[in-house]
Parts: sequence; structure tokens; C-alpha cells
Amino acid sequence: MTNQSIIHSFQCFIFLTFIFPFNSLASSSIRPHYLQEGATLSVEDHDSRFITSPDQTFTFGFYEIGTNAYSLAIWFTNSKHKTVVWMANREKPVNGVGSTLSLRKNGAMVLLDVDGMVSWQTNTTSSDIDRAELLNSGNLVIKNLKGDIKWQSFDYPTDTLLPTQIFTKNKRLVSALRKGGYESGYFYMNFDSDNVLRLVYDGPEISSIYWPNPDIGMYQNGRTNYNSSRVSVLDDNGMFLSSDGLNFKTIDMGFGIKRRMTLDHDGNLRVHSLNNSTGLWYVSWQAVSRACEVRGLCGRNGICIYSPEPKCSCPPGFVVTDPSDWNKGCKPTFNLSNSINQPFKFVMISMVDYYGFDINSTNSVSLEVCQKICLEDPNCQAVNYRLTGTGVCYTKRALFNGYRAEDSTIFLKVPRNLSISEPVKLHGSSARCESNTRETVEGYSSMYITGSGTRKVMWIYLYSFCFSLLGIEFVFVLLGWFFLFRKSDLSATVEAGYQMIASQFSRFSYNGLKKATNNFKEELGRGGSGIVYKGTLANGRMVGVKRLGDVLQGDENLWAEMSVIGKINHMNLVRTWGYCSEKRHKLLVYEYVENSSLDKHLFSTKEFLGWKQRFAVALGTAKGLAYLHDECLEWVIHCDIKPENILLDGDLHPKIADFGLAKLYQREERGPSSELSRIRGTKGYMAPEWALNQPITAKVDVYSYGIVILEMVSGIRLSSWTIDDGNNQPETELTKLMRIIEEKEEESWIETVLDPRLKRNVSKKQVITLIKVGCSCAQEDRNKRPRMASVVETLLQSVSSNDEDPIL
Ligand SMILES: *[C@@H]1O[C@H](CO)[C@@H](O)[C@H](O)[C@H]1NC(C)=O
Ligand SMILES: *[C@@H]1O[C@H](CO)[C@@H](O)[C@H](O)[C@H]1NC(C)=O
Ligand SMILES: *[C@@H]1O[C@H](CO)[C@@H](O)[C@H](O)[C@H]1NC(C)=O
Ligand SMILES: *[C@@H]1O[C@H](CO)[C@@H](O)[C@H](O)[C@H]1NC(C)=O
Repeated sequence: MTNQSIIHSFQCFIFLTFIFPFNSLASSSIRPHYLQEGATLSVEDHDSRFITSPDQTFTFGFYEIGTNAYSLAIWFTNSKHKTVVWMANREKPVNGVGSTLSLRKNGAMVLLDVDGMVSWQTNTTSSDIDRAELLNSGNLVIKNLKGDIKWQSFDYPTDTLLPTQIFTKNKRLVSALRKGGYESGYFYMNFDSDNVLRLVYDGPEISSIYWPNPDIGMYQNGRTNYNSSRVSVLDDNGMFLSSDGLNFKTIDMGFGIKRRMTLDHDGNLRVHSLNNSTGLWYVSWQAVSRACEVRGLCGRNGICIYSPEPKCSCPPGFVVTDPSDWNKGCKPTFNLSNSINQPFKFVMISMVDYYGFDINSTNSVSLEVCQKICLEDPNCQAVNYRLTGTGVCYTKRALFNGYRAEDSTIFLKVPRNLSISEPVKLHGSSARCESNTRETVEGYSSMYITGSGTRKVMWIYLYSFCFSLLGIEFVFVLLGWFFLFRKSDLSATVEAGYQMIASQFSRFSYNGLKKATNNFKEELGRGGSGIVYKGTLANGRMVGVKRLGDVLQGDENLWAEMSVIGKINHMNLVRTWGYCSEKRHKLLVYEYVENSSLDKHLFSTKEFLGWKQRFAVALGTAKGLAYLHDECLEWVIHCDIKPENILLDGDLHPKIADFGLAKLYQREERGPSSELSRIRGTKGYMAPEWALNQPITAKVDVYSYGIVILEMVSGIRLSSWTIDDGNNQPETELTKLMRIIEEKEEESWIETVLDPRLKRNVSKKQVITLIKVGCSCAQEDRNKRPRMASVVETLLQSVSSNDEDPIL
């Protein structure tokens, strides 16, 4: 090469570097959408540090991820928080001064930090590279002169897949470590060697697959491992297709909505759709419906509970290791090491299980034997005793993945001299992911280690001027964060309105249902929302078919209802099999429950329910409601709990019917809603706040539940009027019952209030528990009423005292 040509190409380089951005700025309406070979983006230059896709949906360039720290990213231009969908250097941000991105002549796109070090680069080597271009799909491509794609960002996903981005074997989505953060976390998604798309927690101490559900077979999960092509893709219409059989539609299926599929920081895989007027995202599909089923959320010994959003909690005798990082779990306050000759006791934690790490399982043993097995094994840290069935005992060598599980009780092995107040109450604190405040401040402080030392994120550059400004900037960062934090809280609220999918439903035809019910012949019951008829489907399955009255008009409302109740599945809730919507005809198809409703058993002379069954019904109903309020992500308020809506199956187990019809409410209180007033509860079971026009919360169900269990004890309708002998004023049975309980001392009221048909064949302890719980649930002040989850705990504590203490 001659000197002249060197000078020439140098000039050319200079020309392209400095002229190009302004050039293309003029030719494109707002920003350029490509970077010509030889051109450079510079972090400081506010006009030239981005390029956008031709339709402006996506922007590519330097993205500020912390004070003075930038990453190369692609993000949604018009989402409110400029949501990042791809990041080149997520672990290694560059400095806010002097960093550049250039498309070199040799074909490589190179990100240089201020000191000239390569922070990231593409591996393209080609002599005829032409340009890097951001497409409308959000794909950044490097093309040669012929227009062939030599490199594309779609081949290197971070935590997000965009529509049309093909996910294949050897690719991985890796979650962000925390909410609002970008560095890699512990959850990933990939195609496993058996051809199935999985979600895995791969933490510092354990790794564990949690989706699809590892407890059941592939086939039951709706997957197959026969197709080895291992490809999946979300299309522009919101349809997801995968070679392992995971096919779904987002709830907002259709063209024109911007979507992204992200493995979120909490380990759940979701499709988020953009509301183009607010710029906020809503969830249009998610993989794991109960957040605590994601593994690893709360670290060693930690327990994930719903309150109602998932939170982490430590068992008694343990304290959180690092409040800002729940991955580190909980550490014992006692000494396990000198455990050989130490006397132990067990602490009962009801409704909790720790997943996995079983030493052994033993069937048909009593709790005492189960605990003895654990005492004799120095490796045993706890036992899980399943109360249902014949009693199964699992001994645990490590405690990971703790979560709420209704039928499971954990007995924790602790030193006998450890003082613990029982019954154990778990108080959640915000999961690690939500403690954002520290993160920015730390990001600023140039270097920190996250997780348990396995992943190091280093902010390499720290300038001397930073030190001098440290005091001042610290204040600004905190202030800035305060506003940011509040904003992100808002979007979290929106995201929390999880919407579900009715994919498991069958859609029935009106004629089919007409035939199944023999032209709506046999009526099973009727309520505010419609009449239920008995039916038999073509396959012989018995169903209840409800014809909805005028309560729900239009497909939109029906769809809203379906999306709620479709996913709800709990042994104490009536299962919904499908629906029919044809013109005026709106019908729901339910599981058939044999033994009709509780009112028939309580208030009629034909049926009679013994104490044991009554108590079991009270407990099961509480479990069903606790599930609706806390655990299913929709947070459904029933609004019409009454004996008519509690059905009994063949074994007299309760199943709550008619839920999901009162629309769904998020947990925070809203103003009185005009829509809700259409579907009010039933007189006698309605909480006072209905009349007072106060906001309706889950506490209305707690009130109604309280009335129902008091009726189960007394065997009479508490809303009926009565005139007492000594007191000539008419009053309701409820007022009378409350009065008797208040006036009489020492539980001598039991005989007065107890249903005489029970003939004292009851457990006194359980009667007292039910009455006390009933009264505290039926308090006028809703803030004093307990939550359903704590009602369940209270009832569970007297569950074992069956018939040992009858009233004589
Ligand atoms: C480039 O290649 C190296 C080594 O093969 C690899 O580790 C790196 O991830 C590649 N980078 C990109 C951006 O493709
Ligand atoms: C495997 O999956 C791919 C992609 O979904 C599909 O095109 C192909 O037909 C499947 N092969 C078999 C044998 O089912
Ligand atoms: C928002 O998207 C809808 C289609 O989903 C479209 O009809 C509407 O025009 C869009 N609004 C704006 C402001 O872009
Ligand atoms: C636990 O016991 C070991 C040895 O017996 C001792 O070295 C250690 O300090 C003890 N730790 C605590 C927290 O008491």
C-alpha cells in the first residue's frame, strides 16, 4: 500500500466517523437506523449514541444502567421505562465518558471502554461488511455488501425473546439478578438434552429444574421429548410454538400488539404485552402460576409465602443471612455443630414444605415414629409429615425451596433449650429482588460482589473525580432513586394484575349443552349469577351447567371471568371445565358435586352432618378461600360466601362454588366500584362495609365465612329474627349469639349455642375454636378480622384433637 492510499483511507475513516451521523440524521426522520462500516457511536454524544429501527419501535445504543455506567443495549423506544430486550455487555458496563462503539473495517463491531480496552465485540470477520442495521423486529444485524446477514443479535439472547426470534438448542435465556438490574441471575431457560424446554434454578448451593413440573410426567405436562429439532418461537400474533409440544396463545392474541417473552428476575417466564397508550406492560402469559413454585427464591432454610405477593421468611430459630440478598437464605441462631449429644425438640410449622433433599420416606407411620427416625439420624434437619392419608414421613438432610403447602407440616429439629414461641407465625419480608435502593448506590460504588461469590460484577472504572464528588452524588443518587423507585412501584402494580389464559378450557356448543342437560331439565340450584342444571356429557362425565343471567353481558366480561377461573385449581374449589358463548347464550360447565350444598345439610331436617364433618367443612372452606385470596395470582374475592355456595362432594369434603363471578380485585383497596354493586352478597352474610359504601376487600369474605361457621356450630340461620324470653325486643340470632357469648363466663355458653342435634358428640376444643374464629371473623371493623391464611392455621392446630374431649 502506498503512503498516499494509507492517507486516503485514513481521511475516509475520519470522514465517515465524523460526518456520517449528521448525514444520516438528515436523511432519516429522527435518528439513523444503521451504522455504516467505519462509523462510531460515542457515549457522550447525546445526538449520536443511538440508532433506531425504521418504525421507531426499538432503539440500539448506549443505555445508562447506573451512575456513569453504560451498556450497549436494544430497548423499546416507547415503553415507559425503556425496557431493555438485549444487552451486549450485561456483566461489564463501560464508562460514561470516552467509551465508543465502532463497526470496524475487518467486520467486527467493537465496544471500547475509555481506556481502549475491548469490553465486547462480535466475532464477525469479513472484508465486505457494509453496515449494522436495527430491524423493525428488534434484531440488530450486520450485513455485507450483498445484503447477507453475517451476525445478528437474535442469535445471542439475554433474558428476552422477541416475536419471530427463534430459540434453538445451545441457546439460553438468563434472568437478571434483581428487579431493575441487568447482570445475570440464577435462573435460566434452555432446551435440555431430552429435547424439552425447561426453567432451571442454578444457584450457588443447589440447582433444580422447576418447570415443567418435575413431579409429573412429560405427557401430563403437555410436552414430548421425541422431537429433537429443539426450536421454538413466539410469532407476531402471540402464538408460541415449540418442538416439545409447548404451544400456547397469549390472552391478547392478535396482530399489532408489541410483546416480549422474558425470563423475569423472579424466575418466572412471562410474555409481556405493551399497552401502547400508557407505555406499561401487562402479563399476557406466564409459565408458573404459583410464584413460590419457582425454586431457589428464598435460599437455604428460607420459606416462600404469599402475603399475597410472594415473600421470603425464615423459620423460627433462624435469621436472614443478608436482608438484601435472599439467595443466601437464613442461618440458624443455634449451634448445629456440637449436635451429637445435644437434646433436641421439634418445632411445628404448619402448611409448609421444603422441596427435595429427602433422606428417606416412610409410609404409614405415626408422627412420633417419624420424629424418632429423625432424632436418630444426625444428618436429619427436619421431617415433613403429611397429615392426609395414612401419614407419610419424609426426613430432610437440607432445607431448600421452602414454600406454602396446605397438606404438609414441617417439624424442625432444634436444640431443646432454644426458646420458640408457638404457634409459629411466618412474617415475610420483601424478596431480595425488590430491594432496589441498595443496588444503585452499590452500582455507583464501583465494585461489588453479588450472590454468594460465584458471580462478580465489576464496575471497572472509578475516577478520581468520582471520589471528590462522592458525597454530593450520593445524595443525588438517593434522591433520584427515590423517584425511580416510586415509578417502578407503579409499574409493578400494573404487572401484578396478572392475566391468565383459558387454554385448558373446552369450548362447548349450545346445542351440545342443551342435549347434555336434557333441555335444561333438572335444576341443581340457583343464585344471583344464574341457574345450575345437571347434565351428562357425551363421554359420560356428569357436570353442572350454569346459564348465566344478565349479570355478564358481552364476550369481554365472559372472557375476563374465564381467564380467572380457568386457571384456578384447588381441591376445595369447584373446578370449571369449560364454557359456551353463542349469541345470547352464555354458559359455564362445572365439575358435578354429588352431595348438594351445605345449607341443605345444616338447616333441613332430612340431612344431618356430624361434628367431625362440620369441622372438616369449616377447614376445607377456609383453605379454599385462603387459596383464592392469597395464592392464586388473581387474588379473587368471592363476595358471596354462604352455605348455598359451599358444595359437598361424595366424601362430604367442601368445594366452594360461584367464585370469580364478582370480577377480580387486586389486593390494594379501590374505591367503591359501581360494577361490584351489581353483584352483591346475600343478606345475612354481607359484611357491614357493603352498606357503608366502603371499599371492598377480601375481608368481606372473611366476614361471611365467620357467619357460616357460626351457623355450622349453632345449626340455625343467624339472619333470622327471634324474641328471647327475658328480652322482649326482637333481635337476630346473630346478635343473640354474640350477646350470650359476651355475657356468660367461662365458656358455659357452649351448651346454649350448640346445635342440639349434635347431642354433645363434639370436640369441645374444636367447638370453642370455631366460635372464637367465627366471632373474630364477623367483627364489624374489618381491620380486626383475621386473614383466611391465619384462620386455616388456627383451625389446623385443633385438627388432631378429634373426639378426645367430648362435652359430658
Ligand atoms: C466470540 O467468540 C468467543 C470465543 O469463541 C465467545 O466466547 C464470545 O461469546 C463470542 N462473542 C460474540 C459476541 O459472539
Ligand atoms: C418437530 O418440530 C418441528 C418444529 O416444531 C416440526 O416442524 C416438525 O414437524 C416436528 N417433527 C416431528 C417428527 O413431529
Ligand atoms: C394501539 O394499538 C392498537 C392495536 O392494538 C391500535 O389500534 C391503536 O391505534 C394503537 N394506538 C396508538 C396510539 O398507537
Ligand atoms: C458452635 O460450636 C463450635 C464448636 O463447638 C464453636 O467453635 C462455635 O463458636 C460455636 N458457634 C456459636 C455461634 O455458638
